[in-house]
Amino acid sequence: MPDNVILEVVRFSPESDTQPRFETFEVPYRPDWMVLDALNYIKDQIDGSLTFRWSCRMGICGSCGMMINGREWLACEKRITDCAPTGRIQVSVVCPKNGDPSWPSRNTSSPQPKNGSDLFCCREGKVNPAATEAMMN
Ligand code: FES
Repeated sequence: MPDNVILEVVRFSPESDTQPRFETFEVPYRPDWMVLDALNYIKDQIDGSLTFRWSCRMGICGSCGMMINGREWLACEKRITDCAPTGRIQVSVVCPKNGDPSWPSRNTSSPQPKNGSDLFCCREGKVNPAATEAMMN
């Protein structure tokens, strides 16, 4: 069992890079770690500018999807022991920037319906029966 594992992370900063580039980080090899744990170690201990998305850490939300050793995986579900027999892992993460046009509603949308929306008919908590019926069919 190696003491450390090397993560080669694809990074791209439009302000300074003309091409995506690999950056190499050495992290401790912990058999109970997922790739997401290794990335969080890098962010917390080595380079706080490393950015990637994750949320639930349970394989539910899908936000930690990335290329790991050439295949799509959820970083919170991919064990470091499964992908690092050679002690090296390649990770490609698509990191959205503030103002990225591919995320137009990120800061304006809400997962909850609001009072006054078509879903509510009378007051908070009452759901419009017609809207409910439409969702069920
Ligand atoms: S963090 Fe939600 S699926 Fe990985």
